[in-house]
Amino acid sequence: MTVSDKGTHYRVAPGGEVSGQITVPGDKSISHRALMLGALAEGETEITGFLTGEDCLSTLRALSALGVRIEHLEPERILVHGVGVEGLRAAPSALDMGNAGTAMRLFMGLLAPQRFDSVLIGDESLMRRPMERVAGPLRAMGARIETRDGRPPVHIQGTPGLRAIDYRLPVASAQVKSAVLLAGLRASGRTRLTEPAPARDHTERMLEAFGVTLVRDGSSVSLEGGQRLRATAVRVPADFSSAAFFLVAGCLAAEHGLLLRNVGINPTRTGLLTLLERMGADIRLHPHGASQRGEPIADIEVHKCRLRGIEVPEELVPLSIDEFPVFFIAAALAEGETLVRGAQELRVKESDRLAAMAAGLTRLGVENRLLEDGLWMRGGTGFTGGIIESHGDHRIAMAFAVAGLAARGPLEIRDVANVATSFPGFLELSRAVGLRIEAA
Ligand code: S3P
Repeated sequence: MTVSDKGTHYRVAPGGEVSGQITVPGDKSISHRALMLGALAEGETEITGFLTGEDCLSTLRALSALGVRIEHLEPERILVHGVGVEGLRAAPSALDMGNAGTAMRLFMGLLAPQRFDSVLIGDESLMRRPMERVAGPLRAMGARIETRDGRPPVHIQGTPGLRAIDYRLPVASAQVKSAVLLAGLRASGRTRLTEPAPARDHTERMLEAFGVTLVRDGSSVSLEGGQRLRATAVRVPADFSSAAFFLVAGCLAAEHGLLLRNVGINPTRTGLLTLLERMGADIRLHPHGASQRGEPIADIEVHKCRLRGIEVPEELVPLSIDEFPVFFIAAALAEGETLVRGAQELRVKESDRLAAMAAGLTRLGVENRLLEDGLWMRGGTGFTGGIIESHGDHRIAMAFAVAGLAARGPLEIRDVANVATSFPGFLELSRAVGLRIEAA
């Protein structure tokens, strides 16, 4: 965490222009997985471009507590001394996942088949989030897991000898899919998952990079239990979800263009590109030739333009799930109406993101209607200034920071310390491209 991210509020002065060439920090999803798979592998895994956000540091500390030696060679370079699939040891106390839902859910899959028991806890936000979506299928494999009314703390009674399952996911969730695949590595038989819609596939790609054989067949993926992982080098691309704030900032205020370098453009993550393009955005992709360990990468150039409202196709919701806070800012500035449905998952993220965004937009004078599974709004009227509650949610805080570019008065965004969970240095990078933002 950098010093300036520790401020509890942001103050954003209205207006401004953005420009320059920047690289946002490493991908959060990929950094979590690189640590976990590196720990399970045989040999040493070097991770470069690692995200030193609080969420990934929670995963790093948890693995250290489970007996894995991890060297932080440089801020973004990590060396994991793998212990093999059977090498984890009991942690001396409860494992604290902080704000990181991904860490908690993936650790459930990792720890369920161990010979020892584990307890998983988290911060106030994480202790309210649903865990049965993972506990359910793991129990069907023979795992012994208890939650408190479906939420953390999660008590795991380690159960070697899990059985493979054939599981149809009720929601498109990469975390559920990943947890079951990790447990499946230790189960007898072939574990098979079928998704209702594609969710991010970083786990599948990275398992393959670590030498695991997976079969992908349409909306299904399966693996045989008992496979070993071979250490490898992982180069983490810049996080598309962090780049998203600057993509929207560029649409609003990059008169002379803004370039985002080295961004991961895995198609299971880039629904926002399609949405912004349908709104009329001027975004140009410059793909890098070789994909790094199965993850495609590009420089992305964005120019200011006029946006128009759209109806978001439901199939694009899982592909842009973490980008909705900043998408709603773009939509609020677009001419005409925007409608999002089928996005009830947003209610169980770090905050209830539908409610938090609706309340913030209302505060800034945007006509909107909160739906059970989405949001409707009429855009194009700009933003007044005002005080915004982020509800301790990093992405709500950063989305409203971008809104300042199109506001008529100053914004104060409350409770922003959690920006450091996914985007250390957000404040400095924002200022470097032209946002008039400071910590207060
Ligand atoms: C993530 C999956 C998504 C996403 C989260 C990160 C991951 O959650 O919202 O920020 O790294 O697997 P779900 O799998 O619950 O949709």
